[in-house]
Amino acid sequence: MDYKKLFDLTGKVAIVTGGAGYLGAENVKALKDFGATVVIAGIPMTARWEGEEKPVCDLEVDCDISSTESIANCFKTVYEKFGRIDVLVNCATFGAGYGEASQLEFMDDETWEKGIDGALNSVFRCTREVVKYMKETGGSIINYCSMYGVVSPDLRIYGDNPQKQPPNYGAGKAGVAQLTRYSAGALAQYGIRVNCVTPGPFPNPANQNDMEFNAKLAGKTMLERFGQSYEMSGAVLLLASDASSFMTGSNITVDGGWTAW
Ligand SMILES: NC(=O)c1ccc[n+]([C@@H]2O[C@H](COP(=O)([O-])OP(=O)(O)OC[C@H]3O[C@@H](n4cnc5c(N)ncnc54)[C@H](O)[C@@H]3O)[C@@H](O)[C@H]2O)c1
Repeated sequence: MDYKKLFDLTGKVAIVTGGAGYLGAENVKALKDFGATVVIAGIPMTARWEGEEKPVCDLEVDCDISSTESIANCFKTVYEKFGRIDVLVNCATFGAGYGEASQLEFMDDETWEKGIDGALNSVFRCTREVVKYMKETGGSIINYCSMYGVVSPDLRIYGDNPQKQPPNYGAGKAGVAQLTRYSAGALAQYGIRVNCVTPGPFPNPANQNDMEFNAKLAGKTMLERFGQSYEMSGAVLLLASDASSFMTGSNITVDGGWTAW
């Protein structure tokens, strides 16, 4: 067995939703480094912190994951340009619930539903829309879950932080883990593998200034630190490539041990 070749993505076309985001951008770089043609599917990127670099990709396509029409147009554009879609990384997400509205007792129905839409329904829509293309060649779908889809946030460490983890985010992400298993069973007949990755704490640079909060975050991991953005890419590369050809319906946790205590 040529093990280096197992990870080689030459000739494969990969789409990363939210590929201009903090973790997505590193996924784009890694997939490109291993030879894939990589498409960023997302809403136009604006720099959010000093020194942020736009990842180099082969194509950028507007894609609003809240809209089936927008997702369908995006995948059609990619298929018409490159003739295949081998890998879909469902990395984009959007949440709802900020400040007081992030709290269970004050969240209204509309906010709840928007957060579920951003975390869970969006992954369903992207999965459904890619099948008709991916079934031609087989492929790999990689869904982003979260440690907060596995365990509850310890709300005590968030205090008055307006970014307090809302309940709809984790509930949606828990749904993504189950949708991953369901999709794996439903799509195996087409040679489509579906797996998920579960990140732990990866605060982006804009959120790294609150040293007291970050120390609390880091303290919840066994490795006593939070993750660096590139540290999600190994799992994504494995799942995108033939190195994981016997893996489907599985979940790779990359959380410094947060959920293993
Ligand atoms: N960073 C963390 O600590 C962490 C922890 C656990 C899970 N995750 C998950 O990892 C993934 C990436 O997180 P991140 O930290 O890079 O987030 P991020 O905010 O940096 O990136 C999210 C991306 O999604 C895009 N997006 C938002 N709404 C969209 C829409 N309607 N249509 C298309 N794109 C849209 C944004 O433009 C952005 O590029 C997410 O699914 C997130 O839930 C992150």
